[in-house]
Amino acid sequence: MLVLENASLKEYNTFGIAAKARFFASISTVDDLLSLLRDDRFTAPFIIGGGSNMLLTENVDKLVIHINNKGIEVVDDNFSDSEILLKVAAGENWHEFVLYCVRNNFGGVENLSLIPGNVGTSPIQNIGAYGVELKDTFFECTAIHRKTFKEKIFSLEECNFGYRDSVFKNDLKDEYIITSVTFRLTKKDHILQTDYGAIGDTLKEKNITTPTLKEISQAVIEIRQSKLPDPNKIGNSGSFFKNPIISQEAFTALRKLHKDIPYYPIGNDLIKVPAGWLIEQSGFKGKRYGDAGVHDKQALVLVNYGNATGDEIWDVAMKVKNGVKDKFGIAIEPEVNVI
Ligand code: EPU
Repeated sequence: MLVLENASLKEYNTFGIAAKARFFASISTVDDLLSLLRDDRFTAPFIIGGGSNMLLTENVDKLVIHINNKGIEVVDDNFSDSEILLKVAAGENWHEFVLYCVRNNFGGVENLSLIPGNVGTSPIQNIGAYGVELKDTFFECTAIHRKTFKEKIFSLEECNFGYRDSVFKNDLKDEYIITSVTFRLTKKDHILQTDYGAIGDTLKEKNITTPTLKEISQAVIEIRQSKLPDPNKIGNSGSFFKNPIISQEAFTALRKLHKDIPYYPIGNDLIKVPAGWLIEQSGFKGKRYGDAGVHDKQALVLVNYGNATGDEIWDVAMKVKNGVKDKFGIAIEPEVNVI
């Protein structure tokens, strides 16, 4: 397996930041991954999947391992009578996997169409969109421990999924490398999730009352394309910030001042407020500082118009964070990993 020196990571992160890796290797099998982990020339490697959820603010002075194993395997074609279990290699592109499911009439991930990144990184932050999260179809995943090289299978419970959150971001941060994810998908009687405003509206516009998986996927693709920048054209990493969750009390005070604030109640006493709205109201939507900026159609997304460095994007992130704090008294936190 080829190990490159001083390799550019520009093609390997969707922000398109031209940081360099001291060493770089792309692995296509778990055996290749194990041999790199066991190689004592390299310590504590840096793992990259689709590179869609990271901001590189400096060069990576270690071995970068690009997880690029491929394959989709049917584990059980008749699980719970009407479901299928599919084991998907970590290096598979997420959206390609969604399209494969839609083509084969396997239901559950259609709302997650066009999310950038790879299958192997999807559990880390429990990716989600339009009323569906990864955890809804997750069955288990396999992962290799970075130090003991032992493989472990993580069940749904063990992953401890939350909003853009899992055990892999907390107790087990940087301990395991996910090598495959097994999904539990419906083969018939699909449970469609079309309540999320924008999907319902798009289907209505097309006069679709009983949508197929393909029609939902297509609606999501159209919605995303209308407001999220394509990373192949403008560097970005999707939502840069998480939507903050505040107390009912804080929300009531906020709503007195801003009657049109969108919100989503969570349980009895907590309210999730869209960071995109807070950022837009703070005057940052569409603002550009050199090659770094805030997207003009979705204020939650920071963009690289060409040659911005990671530091320049981070400066914009801090301007936005401070602006929102000054106007609303709410601290918004990055969703992306800042390196
Ligand atoms: N809004 C604004 N201005 C903006 C952006 C949004 O006022 O610039 C308002 C919208 O009008 C709407 C509300 O904020 O009332 C929510 O907007 P939207 O439906 O676009 O969703 P979001 O909360 O901004 C989240 C996810 C997205 C996901 C969408 C759809 C997070 C951090 N982001 O965004 O995920 O696609 O919901 O489900 O939870 C991603 O993680 O990369 C991502 C794109």
